[in-house]
Amino acid sequence: MKKYRIGIVGATGAVGQEIINLLEKREFPVAEARLLASSRSAGREIQACGNLEVVQETTPESFKNLDIAIFSAGSSNTQEFAEIARRNDCVVIDNSSAFRMEKDVPLVIPEINGDALESHKGIIANPNCSTAVALMALFPLHKRFGLKRFFASTYQAVSGAGAEGVTELEDQVKSKITGQTTEAKSDPVFQHPIAFNLIPHIDDFREDGYTKEELKMRNETKKILGLPSLQVSCTCVRVPVYRAHSISINAEFDSPVNVPDARTALENFNGIELWDLPNALRYPMPINYSEKELCGVGRLRLDHGFSNGLALWTVGDQLWKGAALNAVQIAEELINRKCLKNL
Ligand code: A2P
Repeated sequence: MKKYRIGIVGATGAVGQEIINLLEKREFPVAEARLLASSRSAGREIQACGNLEVVQETTPESFKNLDIAIFSAGSSNTQEFAEIARRNDCVVIDNSSAFRMEKDVPLVIPEINGDALESHKGIIANPNCSTAVALMALFPLHKRFGLKRFFASTYQAVSGAGAEGVTELEDQVKSKITGQTTEAKSDPVFQHPIAFNLIPHIDDFREDGYTKEELKMRNETKKILGLPSLQVSCTCVRVPVYRAHSISINAEFDSPVNVPDARTALENFNGIELWDLPNALRYPMPINYSEKELCGVGRLRLDHGFSNGLALWTVGDQLWKGAALNAVQIAEELINRKCLKNL
C-alpha cells in the first residue's frame, strides 16, 4: 500500500494534536509525519504515528518532499505558507478561514460535497466548526425536503478557542471554587469571565451587528450546499463546556415535512446518529459526543413557527468533525478519488 508524507502545521495545538491522534486511529498510511509549529516549540518531542518526532519551526523549506500539509495554525500562518506548500506540489488542507470563500478553493465536508475535491487546485478548505456540525444534520433533511432557510443558535465549547481557552476556563473555575483570586491575565482568550457564565459573542463584530463567526455559518453553508440564495440567521455563543459544540436549529423546507420521514433521512446518513428518545431523556449532549466521530441529532420535532418546519438539536466534537477529523477525511478522500496531485 502506498504511504504518504504528511505535514501538520500547528502540530502542538489543540487541533494539531487531534490530527495526530486521528491519523493513528484511522490507520492513515503515513510514510512521514512532519510536525511543524512556531519557533517556541522547535525541538519538542512528540509521539506521532508510531515514532517519536521532533517538532520543527515552520519555514518556507518545511514543505519540500511532502504530499499533504494539514494547516491548523490560524489564518495568518496559512496565508504565509500555503502558497509555498502548493508550489512544492504539497496539497494543502486548511482549517483556518483564510481561503474558505475563494472561488478556486473547494470547501469540503466529504459526506456532503466530496466531489468538489476533484477540481482542487492545491488548496482545500475545511469549514468552520459549527458550520460542519450543523450541516451534518441539515444536509440529509435538505436532500429529502429542500432547505429554504434556517435559524441556528450555537453553544460553543472553550476548546474551540484553542488549548489556552481550556486552561482559562480551568483556572477561573479553580479560583472561583477555592476563593483564591489569581492575577488577571494581560491578554485573556475570552473578554469576559467564562466560568459559570456564557458569552454571546465569538470573533469580531461587523457593522450589521452579527459577528464574523455568525457570518461563516451563513456564507459557508451557501457554498457547501450550492444554495446561493439560502437565508440563514445565526447567533454564536461561547459556553463553559470543554469540548463539543451544540447547535439548536429551526429550519424551513420547500416540501411538506413529517417527523418519520425526517428520522429516516437522518438515520440513513453516514456520519450522524439519531439519538432521540425524549421519554428516556435521550438526546445528544457535549459530554457524550466528545472524542466521537459521529455527530448526534435529537429533539427532532415539527417546528410550530413555520408551515414546513423542523426543529432539532445537534452536537458534534468540534475538534474532530469540526476540524481534525474532517481534515483527515479530506486527505483520505483525496487518495480514494485519486486526485492527490502526486498520485
Ligand atoms: P506553538 O505551540 O509553537 O505556539 P491552538 O489553536 O491550540 O492555540 O494552537 C495553535 C497552533 O499554531 C500551535 O501548534 C502553535 O505552535 C501554532 N503556531 C502559532 N504560531 C505559529 C507560527 N508562526 N508558525 C507555525 N505555527 C504556529
